[in-house]
Amino acid sequence: MPKYEGIPESLTLKAARQFVEPRVSEKRFAHIEGVAKFAKRIANACGVDLFLAELSGWLHDACKHVNDKELVAMADKFGMELHPVDRQQGRLIHGPVAAYVCREELGLTNQEVLDAITEHTLGNIPMTDLSKVTFLADCLEESRPDSYRKPILDALDLDGKVNLNKAMLVALDLGLQMLISDKAVIHPRTVDCRNYFLDLVRNANK
Ligand SMILES: [Fe+2]
Ligand SMILES: [Fe+2]
Repeated sequence: MPKYEGIPESLTLKAARQFVEPRVSEKRFAHIEGVAKFAKRIANACGVDLFLAELSGWLHDACKHVNDKELVAMADKFGMELHPVDRQQGRLIHGPVAAYVCREELGLTNQEVLDAITEHTLGNIPMTDLSKVTFLADCLEESRPDSYRKPILDALDLDGKVNLNKAMLVALDLGLQMLISDKAVIHPRTVDCRNYFLDLVRNANK
């Protein structure tokens, strides 16, 4: 394995897997394994580093099992800045909290991987390709319903001209539609992020 900045030699893919496995349910672990696999597949199609993609996939939900109240308490303890919606919907910050935990417990300081873990739920402006790959792999893992996966996969066009931005736009649109139909609170970052990708896709089509 080549040396990567901010990734201790001890943090192999196997070590990342062993770090998350005892923390989460069997079902969640199967999801995480699926995300790591899918992240590698997308990365391979678009020239993103395979190891970093798989590593981000393994670690992205390392705090998904923590309840809302505890996530907010952990974020406060870590001195993280929270939006009022983060406080109300603690689960939305399982990514940023996981990034912090991975830094503390695994010595992971690679900013790209930390950002990919942090941004996998709400997105961000801008996002690196690694972060988009992690976000999309989380949407496309095989236990997700086909009605959700198919439009994202079509936009991504894995076997053609891979288009991460178009797939991000479709994924964010679908996510927002689901939140509206569930009458759920929408985090403003997701709206900003959706508008950002809409702009990128429109400008690319001009
Ligand atoms: Fe997640
Ligand atoms: Fe996930």
